[in-house]
Amino acid sequence: MVIKGNILYTQDHKTLHTIRNGCLVVHGGVIEKTCTWEEFCASDDSAETIHDYGNQLIIPGMVDLHLHASQFAFCGLGMDRELLDWLAEYAFPEEMKYADMNYAETAYQSFVDTLLHSPTTRACVFATIHKDSSLKLAELMRDAGFAAYIGKVNMDRQSPEGLCEDTARSLADTRDFIETVLSWNCEIKPIITPRFVPSCTDQLMAGLGKLSKEYHLPVQSHLAENPNEVELVKKLNSKAKSYGDAYDMFGLFGSNGPAVMAHCVYPEAAELELMKQNGVFVAHCANSNFSLASGIAPARKYLEQGINMGLGTDIAGGFSISMFRAIQDTISVSKLYWRLRDDGAAPLSFTEAFYLATMGGGRFFGKVGSFLPGYAADILVLDDSREQDASEPDLRKRLERLCYLADSDVVSAKYINGRLVMEKASPSKSCC
Ligand code: GUN
Ligand code: FE
Repeated sequence: MVIKGNILYTQDHKTLHTIRNGCLVVHGGVIEKTCTWEEFCASDDSAETIHDYGNQLIIPGMVDLHLHASQFAFCGLGMDRELLDWLAEYAFPEEMKYADMNYAETAYQSFVDTLLHSPTTRACVFATIHKDSSLKLAELMRDAGFAAYIGKVNMDRQSPEGLCEDTARSLADTRDFIETVLSWNCEIKPIITPRFVPSCTDQLMAGLGKLSKEYHLPVQSHLAENPNEVELVKKLNSKAKSYGDAYDMFGLFGSNGPAVMAHCVYPEAAELELMKQNGVFVAHCANSNFSLASGIAPARKYLEQGINMGLGTDIAGGFSISMFRAIQDTISVSKLYWRLRDDGAAPLSFTEAFYLATMGGGRFFGKVGSFLPGYAADILVLDDSREQDASEPDLRKRLERLCYLADSDVVSAKYINGRLVMEKASPSKSCC
């Protein structure tokens, strides 16, 4: 298959490649070659199908490294609260509803439909503690064609009745969840998901560490998001050397396999070293961090120190599911950080934020988020003709304006592993 249009992708956080009238040669769900259309025509390559998207923009699919599917239903509410109050007043009461399979199926279907039309192709997703409804979410995402890690959440302390598990049951349900999802042998994979340190006893953490090791599964959780939360962890886990160490003690901080930690707004020096050493990924959630008055994560420092990083919407701590918005907010908060906190921390450029939204987060999944040969063919086709004068010759400018001004409805087609999962009728597309 060949996909033809105006191509943009990064190779690292400094380099944005643009190809006017270019094409992607896709084979077996993977990018085989990225070149100009003229080069393709002059080569010996042939293609059974050519999807010609005319003057539209073609970019790698975006990776949402952290969001809660179970919070989508109350997106945009409680944005006048701080983290711990917001959890108690909004997030926990909503998540309790997922004990009811009818509620869960309706709410998760609405989430999946919205995500399908957004720029996101891959994601690391939190469900709730409930095994059956977590499986329903995994099934709906599988059937929609997504590639994702989905976690049944674990919580056995400091949680309200109705959302607090018995430790043994929590581990048994997690094992069942893992085995069922793995048996599908598809692009939806399980991920170990201790909610955060305050919600999990050491016994639960130890059991989750063993499951992660036994099934070779990655881990997702929250880290150092908010000052009150950091204090609470110090009080509850006085034996841990740091917040990160409270995961690391049980092999849940990158030592046994990939780990992604949302937020990392208040890293301690030793923690940062551990993150670097263990290759822990930061899911930088700018919108959530200002919406819940958490603070601003030192994204420039993470980039400079070579810490793995991608972007997360953190639905519903963040109020927008759009990764375009995540790019905007990442740049905006990096400017505030530079102006207000550290004039040595230069604001992030558009190329850097775009890299984080695609390749930066994509690296958690392997060769994902770029159009270099061998990368997964996760492809977005964007129709910016309503937003601007499409005769603008500078593709980078077209993409930047689109990320700032457009809605998700500019996504006119979406491919995941080379498979078309969403396409709108488009007058400028031809196929032969
Ligand atoms: N920390 C623990 N749980 C949550 C959650 O649901 N959202 C956010 N933003 N932080 C958390
Ligand atoms: Fe979160």
